[in-house]
Amino acid sequence: MSAIESVLKENRVFEPSETFTAHANVSGMDAYNALCEKANADYEGFWAELARDNITWKQPFTKILDESNAPFFKWFEDGKLNISYNCIDRHLADKADKVAIIYDKDDGSSENITYRQLYERVCQLANGLKSLGVKKGDRVVIYMPMVADAVVAMQACARLGAIHSVVFGGFSAGAVKDRVKDAAAKIIITANESVRGGKRVPLKATVDDALAGGDCTSVEKVVVLQRTDADVAWSDDRDIWWHDLVQHQASDCEPEWVGAEDPLFILYTSGSTGKPKGVQHSTGGFLLGAIVSMKWVFDYKPNDVFWCTADVGWITGHTYIAYGPLALGATQVVFEGVPTYPDAGRFWHDIEKFKVTIFYTAPTAIRSLIKLGADLPKKYDLSSLRLLGTVGEPINPEAWMWYYQIVGNSRCPIVDTWWQTETGSNMIAPLPGAVAIKPGSCTLPLPGIIADIVDESGAPVEKGNGGFLVIKRPFPSLLRTVWGDNERFKSTYFPEDFGGKYYVAGDSAHRDENGYIWIMGRVDDVLNVSGHRLGTMEIESALVANPLVAEAAVVGKPHDVKGEAVVAFVVLKGERPHGDEAKRMAAELKNWVAHEIGKIAQPDDIRFGENLPKTRSGKIMRRLLRSLAKGEEITSDISTLENPQVMEQLKHSV
Ligand code: WT7
Repeated sequence: MSAIESVLKENRVFEPSETFTAHANVSGMDAYNALCEKANADYEGFWAELARDNITWKQPFTKILDESNAPFFKWFEDGKLNISYNCIDRHLADKADKVAIIYDKDDGSSENITYRQLYERVCQLANGLKSLGVKKGDRVVIYMPMVADAVVAMQACARLGAIHSVVFGGFSAGAVKDRVKDAAAKIIITANESVRGGKRVPLKATVDDALAGGDCTSVEKVVVLQRTDADVAWSDDRDIWWHDLVQHQASDCEPEWVGAEDPLFILYTSGSTGKPKGVQHSTGGFLLGAIVSMKWVFDYKPNDVFWCTADVGWITGHTYIAYGPLALGATQVVFEGVPTYPDAGRFWHDIEKFKVTIFYTAPTAIRSLIKLGADLPKKYDLSSLRLLGTVGEPINPEAWMWYYQIVGNSRCPIVDTWWQTETGSNMIAPLPGAVAIKPGSCTLPLPGIIADIVDESGAPVEKGNGGFLVIKRPFPSLLRTVWGDNERFKSTYFPEDFGGKYYVAGDSAHRDENGYIWIMGRVDDVLNVSGHRLGTMEIESALVANPLVAEAAVVGKPHDVKGEAVVAFVVLKGERPHGDEAKRMAAELKNWVAHEIGKIAQPDDIRFGENLPKTRSGKIMRRLLRSLAKGEEITSDISTLENPQVMEQLKHSV
């Protein structure tokens, strides 16, 4: 791993303030160290105590961790619970009238939903779904806008023990179809349209498209929320309006008591090869991860107003919108819009309006807001804020300093949270009343998370050296498998190279002299575009699915807002196009990818060659393509290439 070298040097350190520490849930380094030691001394006992204290069990568990069939670990297996009960019902005794969700609509209007109202809406929808035959273990695809009802839909599935698979509302019909098919979903919940930044986006029409070929034979019903007044095509035996479905339903619904290991949801994420993986999470372990990280990392207190700006289509929106805040009885903002509408002050405006105390967003959003209005936060009263967070990619120190000084007024700690779709909850992040922060570092693992950085043989690397980030002990919120593909789960996450014992995250990282962890990036062919993982293979497959394309290779290049931008090297079946023809083809292929996967995967830059640079054995030289994408001079010897002349063709974008 000597090739992975860290270039970042950042020496600033920000200690937690005395006032923050005085009130923190975990107060001071001694308290943090004590928790870590407790976990080290009795790993299972540590997690069991947290699970007993934080989750309301219908039937208490007697088994803690079962490692007998590693890496298919089981936690709290004989315990029974319902996550919707834990998120809603258990607050009704003392918090029924507390606002659970401030639904912050695209147009700037808002609606408060109390725990009692949330309970009724979830129960009615659950009863409605039940009337359509949904039962424990059935898969329900949720393809919705960022409306409060998206959370209601997830909670209603959880209430019935049905497994939801949320598909990001920006994905295309092709992506919806693949996910519906892979999970054999019985029901799709969608909306006629979504509204973002004043624009309307058809969702129901996309679902119709996805179902049109007749491939999705598992789908029985499509439930449609009426978000706008738009008319949509209707299939009488298949489609049903949400408001009709819930109209005569009772507002109580006994939760289905499920086993702690019963799947709560599937969420598809990109890998380096093949189709997206259906990351399968458990009920009990996932809930525990969400709760403890809300307490430790977000230092949640009962009078906080929590705002996570993610979409429920990503894991962040699952853990820190749909479940974590509700499990603690929090008041949270659910934001439908985009950060730049009506202008780039939207976040700051709404923080003032709703007196947000904890704000959690992505570095890519921060960078774009700096570009569009670095002074805008100063126009608003942001004094309600007490804690800031980031997630999705490493944050560059400049963006960090701006977030810290301009948004947080140099008062609020920033929790840089490293985790993944697969880990279910924060893994490495500062506990803000204990751990001093450094711009660009996610700092130290949470108590009970045994993270390390190792070389190819699994041996820990020296401080300062880069290596593979691994987690050495199974933890409750870890994914349980890849839906329908246990082999892929094993080979991807517990590869034999590392003895099959460690969870291998696919990131490289290093530790500094204080033991702080710095994430350096992915080690596989996965791009991080705007904080979201995209498999290069997936985009390549989409490109070659175009009848004009013979071959394609996709790499990333640094982008100052998105983090990474997609660059595609394409060989057409016909002649290599030139001039306007090349421009037209490039535009066509960009639209094609947007149509096949979604706009997020659209290449910024397409280059045409008569071939791709290959070794004599036919392997595409990705390293060279990465250099070309960045505009670097190729200094290495390319004489071993089968076809060195194509390098010149691929140097320039069209
Ligand atoms: C990948 C996971 C977890 C929710 C959002 C993305 C990168 C995530 C950080 C961070 C540096 C980060 C990693 C990771 N990543 N958080 N704080 N610092 N890198 O979820 O799509 O599953 O992607 O995002 O590369 O492996 P995801």
